[in-house]
Amino acid sequence: MYPAQFPGQHVLLREFKQTDVAQTAELLRDDQVTRWSWFDSQAPDAAAIVRGIMTRAQREPRTEYFLAVTQPDDTMVGFTRLGLSGMQAGEIACTINPHHWQRGYATDTVRAVITFGFGVLHLHRISAAVIPDNTASVALTIGLGFQYEGRLRDHVCTNGVWYDTHLYSLLAQEWTERSVHDHLLDTR
Ligand SMILES: CC(C)(COP(=O)(O)OP(=O)(O)OC[C@H]1O[C@@H](n2cnc3c(N)ncnc32)[C@H](O)[C@@H]1OP(=O)(O)O)[C@@H](O)C(=O)NCCC(=O)NCCS
Repeated sequence: MYPAQFPGQHVLLREFKQTDVAQTAELLRDDQVTRWSWFDSQAPDAAAIVRGIMTRAQREPRTEYFLAVTQPDDTMVGFTRLGLSGMQAGEIACTINPHHWQRGYATDTVRAVITFGFGVLHLHRISAAVIPDNTASVALTIGLGFQYEGRLRDHVCTNGVWYDTHLYSLLAQEWTERSVHDHLLDTR
């Protein structure tokens, strides 16, 4: 599906555009961010990265939803990626600008992407690979109901260092059950 655009409760997820290069560069240069993500902070070429994201977004069949996370006034606060592979399966990742950490943006973003993945793309399974020392990411993943599956050895290399990751997954049925449960709590 192109273009993709959908809201969370407090954020909007939309396709990348050329004018996102400066804010993307700021994020990719930040060691607090790249310490835990798949990007090297050494001289990232943000323009090329944004160009690549925009090009891949228009490929058919689409195998990646790499979206900008914005506030209602279109200020970019981060980005998220849902990569599709395997049988009705996707892998999710999310990055929020440290200026906006701990305000619930990642929870809001990942919840919206999961709802899109299961509800619109009809995925069966969404996984997340998390570096275990990344406390925020572990809390985010477990908080949304992902189940631990196992350890992937030397799964990612960032800034020249290889890290194991812990693989978590969430199934469509678990998300539906959780949504029904949350809805019942809300209406009590
Ligand atoms: C992981 C990340 C996306 C979280 O973003 P965020 O907007 O601050 O997250 P939220 O505010 O939605 O909080 C999510 C959970 O993490 C916890 N958390 C957030 N920052 C934390 C920190 N520094 N230390 C411990 N827990 C933290 C929150 O308390 C919350 O847990 P809870 O629901 O049990 O209360 C952000 O820290 C980030 O961009 N990190 C760098 C990139 C990265 O690691 N991405 C994930 C792997 S791809």
